[in-house]
Amino acid sequence: MLYADCLSINSLGHLAIDGCDTLMLAEHYGTPLYVMSETEIEKNVRLYQDSITDYYDGRGSVAYASKAFCCKEIYRIMKRLGASVDVASGGELHTALSVDFPPERIFFHGNNKTAPELARAVEVGVGRIVVDNLSELELLDSVARSAGKRVLIQIRIKPGIDPDTHDFVRTGQIDSKFGFALETGEAMDAVRWVMNSEGLELMGVHCHIGSQIFDINPFAHAAEVMVGFMAAVRKETGLALTELNLGGGFGIRYVESHNPAAYQSYMEAVSRSVKAACAQHELPLPFITLEPGRSIVGAAGITLYTAGAVKKIPGVRTYLTLDGGMADNPRYALYHAEYDACVAARAAEPRDTLVTLAGRCCESGDLIGEHMPIQPPQEGDIIAVTGTGAYNYSMASNYNRLPRPPVVMTREGSHRLIVRGESYDDLIAQDI
Ligand SMILES: Cc1ncc(COP(=O)(O)O)c(C=O)c1O
Repeated sequence: MLYADCLSINSLGHLAIDGCDTLMLAEHYGTPLYVMSETEIEKNVRLYQDSITDYYDGRGSVAYASKAFCCKEIYRIMKRLGASVDVASGGELHTALSVDFPPERIFFHGNNKTAPELARAVEVGVGRIVVDNLSELELLDSVARSAGKRVLIQIRIKPGIDPDTHDFVRTGQIDSKFGFALETGEAMDAVRWVMNSEGLELMGVHCHIGSQIFDINPFAHAAEVMVGFMAAVRKETGLALTELNLGGGFGIRYVESHNPAAYQSYMEAVSRSVKAACAQHELPLPFITLEPGRSIVGAAGITLYTAGAVKKIPGVRTYLTLDGGMADNPRYALYHAEYDACVAARAAEPRDTLVTLAGRCCESGDLIGEHMPIQPPQEGDIIAVTGTGAYNYSMASNYNRLPRPPVVMTREGSHRLIVRGESYDDLIAQDI
């Protein structure tokens, strides 16, 4: 289960993350506790950045999809690493701006951005607004005109690619709530609409075909389809688009059976596909943006819990109860996401017991996983669930009025609190 470089077993036989003993962290900060590794995050960003240099002569950028894990510190880290970011709401935008993240390195996404969100994005000068639909084009154009600005945009296209992933995280096929369809002519109509607008300037096109995808081929195929569309735009309208944003969605290993491709191989395959398609259509190479979220922070995070009762139901299953659950990690309840877990104090021992990890919410579906291999557990053990860095903290809720846990960042044996845990008073702070 030690799939990420940041995880190890120390001389005491305890699970360690980025050189920090997980039992020490649990003791110091309490549980439940999210723990992230800065070294791992940095390594992943650099892998993508280097792959753009190696395979595409550096003519591209990495925009971290901050929905995967959003707090002030992650924007500080991305700022330091020279990455761009993708924000998908006024709240994510506000968080990025609160730490002086350069607005020109922000891509603003969302399939139903509000007028105040668009007005704020235009006011602060975000780099690109990625427009999802015709109503948004109209709204943004009027916002831009009233601000007296010309706003640089990309439009989100559904390239008609249907990758092999869960229905809820598949987004590139025609039956999707995101973006303009190619097949129906809607995307070309949008291009013409922008060309006739006063306030908007179309710089390029965007697609995002889904999430947790292991196969590289759909990405290469999507890139080819998108270049084909850019060629059609030039032919039919004369407009030369210069930017191609290929979204994120690259899969990570949560459990043994997952077999993700090396992150560099996405850029390798995509640049081959883009270069071939551009040669075929006699187009200059576009500036490419990748928007990985999960693959930057997913494997960099673990969650530490304290085990409660161990309930053995003979002939059925053993429930191992945790002091957290769907409120801090709703992904099993949402789409049966898989995770690995271990008893942190005995991480080197064989995981020869099967348990169902049950949360503490009043829902039978409040589980972190079923029939998971783990060391024989005891009440009071610290249980580590790995691969929780993406879409856990950012998807957490206060169901049952559970306070959201703190987040700790580790780096080469040191640790620092980056998000304070909520108190009971925080929970009632907005109540009137
Ligand atoms: C537009 C866009 N870009 C990037 C991402 C990041 O995807 P992932 O975390 O799978 O890399 C998402 C995820 O939903 C997205 O909607």
